[in-house]
Amino acid sequence: MPEVSAELESVLAKLRACAAAPLERATAMPPELYSSAALYAHEQKEIFAKEWLSPGRAADIPNPGDYLSFAINDQPVFCIRGDDGQIRSFSNVCLHRMMRLVDGKGHCTRIVCPYHAWTYDNGGHLLAAPHMKKSPGFNPRDHRLPEIRTELWEGWIYITLNNQAPKVADLLAPLLPVVERYRMADYVHCATEDFVWNTNWKLLTENFMEGYHLPVAHKKTVGAWFPAEETGFPEQRFDAFTYQTFIKDQTAKYGLAHASNTRLTDRWRYTSVMPTVFPTHMYVLAPDHLWYLSLRPKSLGEVHLRFGYALAPEVYESLEDRDSFIAETNAFFDRVNDEDRMVTEGIYLGSRAPLAKGGRLSWLEREIHDFMQYLLRRLDTGETESQARPKLSVAR
Ligand code: FES
Ligand SMILES: [Fe+2]
Repeated sequence: MPEVSAELESVLAKLRACAAAPLERATAMPPELYSSAALYAHEQKEIFAKEWLSPGRAADIPNPGDYLSFAINDQPVFCIRGDDGQIRSFSNVCLHRMMRLVDGKGHCTRIVCPYHAWTYDNGGHLLAAPHMKKSPGFNPRDHRLPEIRTELWEGWIYITLNNQAPKVADLLAPLLPVVERYRMADYVHCATEDFVWNTNWKLLTENFMEGYHLPVAHKKTVGAWFPAEETGFPEQRFDAFTYQTFIKDQTAKYGLAHASNTRLTDRWRYTSVMPTVFPTHMYVLAPDHLWYLSLRPKSLGEVHLRFGYALAPEVYESLEDRDSFIAETNAFFDRVNDEDRMVTEGIYLGSRAPLAKGGRLSWLEREIHDFMQYLLRRLDTGETESQARPKLSVAR
């Protein structure tokens, strides 16, 4: 049996105890869950190296040669659209002396390493390497960047280092009937931004998955039109995701179907779905817009956030002054993000306080309860000394 540190065993025991309570009696997770270096290392191995993560949307890279970069733990990755229109992902590490090849988001006809100019095509094949003629037996055509498993689902790109992971379409099959009516793959890309916030990744996931804080922390922005009592949750619990639905009242500036939207009917014209695909991909899918986040931990107390939004096609088409609208919307979401940053960095500091402990949850925090069950399923791998962990019967 692999040796497990006493620290990890102790934190997992706390997670077990916390996750055992039903939602009505549940508390927030204990502070050690956010400050344990042993748990963080375990999360990298058992969660981030094994799960599907989303670097963005296919619409972010619409043309051959468009790319965006991401990382899975210490593995830099870039996704690129090939000449055949397919999106593929590759190790973002040069095959020569391991320089990172591309940064951020962009377009290129060839990927040229900034160190010694080894040059790759958008299918990851090495095309040329200067001054290598005196290296006998070296043929650029023998070399290709390692490809990383990539799947598309409803316009999202998902990648994983785990060749055994079930297909995204299978994992998310029960979510499809909820979201497909919106046709979110057609939503028009408007903006993405990358940030680093000083908090633990789980605190950010928990913050973005619940609507309990909206009327308070976001009272000056999105919380203003949010009737919390109308929040809905599925009866069933799912292994790979959770979600809630909420409505916007008729005075809302965002979140209502455009008059020419013919896809959505009845209540769906003012209903948004907010899925969290575990561990770190979450979005608000509204009748008029799509707002999304993808997180990846940078360290125990730092998180990379990729934030983006897109507009329903009829909303985008109807804009008379598109640039002003997008600038105004960017400014609005910047304010929303500032509000979230303030609270998620605040609770991280709070979680490190000697007297801190997790308090009782509201019914509006159902997804946090789902999240702790998810963490237990992935992290309580049986490599610990205790055999007393609960077996949760959620099928993968
Ligand atoms: S490290 Fe890329 S060309 Fe040398
Ligand atoms: Fe928020």
